[in-house]
Amino acid sequence: MCGIIGYIGPRQAYPVLLKGLKRLEYRGYDSAGIAVLDRELRIFKCRGKVSDLENHINGVPVTGTIGIGHTRWATHGEPNDVNAHPHFSGSGNIAIIHNGIFENYNSLKKELLKRNHSFTSDTDTEVLAHLIEDIRQHEKTDLFEAVRIALNEIIGAYAIVVLSKDHPDTLIAAKKSSPLVIGIGKDEFFLASDPTPIVEYTRNVVYLEDDEIAILQRNQEIKIRTIKNREKTPYIQELELNLELLEKGGFQHFMLKEIYEQPRSIRDSMRGRIDASKGIVSLGGIKEYERKLINAKRIIIAACGTSWHAGLVGEYLFEDLARIPVEVEYASEFRYRNPVLSETDIVIAISQSGETADTLAAVELAKAKGATIIGICNVVGSSIARATNAGSYTHAGPEIGVASTKAFTAQITVLTLMALLAANKRGTLPQSRFRQLLVELESIPDKVNEVLGTDKQVKKIARIFQNTKNFLYLGRGYNFPVALEGALKLKEISYIHAEGYPAAEMKHGPIALIDDEMPVVFIATKKGAYEKIISNIEEVKARKGKVISIITAGDTDVKKLSDYSIEIPDVDEALVPILSVIPLQLLSYHIAVMRGCDVDQPRNLAKSVTVE
Ligand code: AGP
Repeated sequence: MCGIIGYIGPRQAYPVLLKGLKRLEYRGYDSAGIAVLDRELRIFKCRGKVSDLENHINGVPVTGTIGIGHTRWATHGEPNDVNAHPHFSGSGNIAIIHNGIFENYNSLKKELLKRNHSFTSDTDTEVLAHLIEDIRQHEKTDLFEAVRIALNEIIGAYAIVVLSKDHPDTLIAAKKSSPLVIGIGKDEFFLASDPTPIVEYTRNVVYLEDDEIAILQRNQEIKIRTIKNREKTPYIQELELNLELLEKGGFQHFMLKEIYEQPRSIRDSMRGRIDASKGIVSLGGIKEYERKLINAKRIIIAACGTSWHAGLVGEYLFEDLARIPVEVEYASEFRYRNPVLSETDIVIAISQSGETADTLAAVELAKAKGATIIGICNVVGSSIARATNAGSYTHAGPEIGVASTKAFTAQITVLTLMALLAANKRGTLPQSRFRQLLVELESIPDKVNEVLGTDKQVKKIARIFQNTKNFLYLGRGYNFPVALEGALKLKEISYIHAEGYPAAEMKHGPIALIDDEMPVVFIATKKGAYEKIISNIEEVKARKGKVISIITAGDTDVKKLSDYSIEIPDVDEALVPILSVIPLQLLSYHIAVMRGCDVDQPRNLAKSVTVE
């Protein structure tokens, strides 16, 4: 996610902004910038780190006691100097920083272009700066009113701070779906995306709520109004002091924070791409290649690790819903085995980091053989994203924990959208199921929230099995890839040996492993070959294996057979993986913590495997 910082008070703003941006670096970013007002409104910004920004400023005196700063995690527009924030309005009298996504920025930009605005960047943020200025000029309003009117035209998520040359004693901040905290000092205000840059100056903070606008004026009390212009009483809280805990949003590890971010990250991966009430799925990033996807003779999915598991869910989605044959390839194998490819093939490359060497090499090979490449990446402007013909970003925000969690569910969400789009265009799915899937998909974030509510239960199970030497994870159909993912999560952060298998494979060998020392995790939701998986559970029980099951809420049959079970809401079979993986993420997390493992930085692992 982007990082926001703002200051107004008696201090020189530049040092406060710079230090604040450094505090926000842990959030992940690709560019940085500041704007400071001291008679002139000046912006300094560039691609790269905060240290690169300092070099870019290169000792130029930056004076002024009011300013804003930003670390950018690109969502719209490549990471480069021009797209970095802050952004100016047309006159250069307004500067703005933004964390979030404006879904309707293209239509607003078209309107502003008609009114002779010209833009320098590809970002959605710059459009808001011009819109605010346009309103101020045409409706002769003050800064607050112009911001308020503009925000009523915006669709999407935002945390913004606006600085105007004509209002040297005022900062305007607003929030919807992206976090914004206001620090209240003695005759000074601090703004930030989270409390980490604020806590060293003051512990008194106001967390802005959605649709609220804060007016911060020198030597005045904070004022808060809604975008419907109703006054709100600021609720001042006292901050937790532990900086490290603050960086993790109060969670003990980034991994747990990212597991809990999944309702938001899944919502963001769908933002602007689905409208169940209208029966619409739209993926702007692959529009140009939609026809090729719909007419594909075959889809090849190339990825590694967790992304490969997401690809396996993709196989079930595209074949079940869109009836397009799919092959899922380990990129590391695909790139070396001289695969047979042609122009009619679509290759989907899935990568959270967008920098995995094997996946990048697979993309280059497929391109050389004439295939069309579609990317599903999380890092905007990453090498794999840039190497593809088209793609859809997952918009999950930076994933700091080495073990991939929110990226996985965001990847599956994007794959579901792609498969539904193809199915609808190919007419391979009855309209009733298509519409029902859209309605259920829109409500999935709330259901993920419900599953997160099983955390305490999962922790109890983790405590019982924390010293186990081996685990088996079994699933069928859509849940087979989830079994593989659950096993990988446990392996990579707790160092316990775990294997995932299709449940029916047990009788072809693995059942020899079963004894009272071998817990078996069954993903046994009441879908697909449900009756068959019951027999697999009975086979394990007959050999004294311990059974932990992930079941559909209300299912008593599997519950009776299990030693421990976790219930998840009943959803369409195609959407089960997004929910059934959550308890497995939590199980691996708690076992790893109980074993004293370094959850965020497991031994021998890197977040992005850029070497072969
Ligand atoms: C997953 O938890 C691991 N960190 C690893 O398997 C990862 O998924 C794999 O290295 C692929 O990374 P990518 O998605 O960035 O390409």
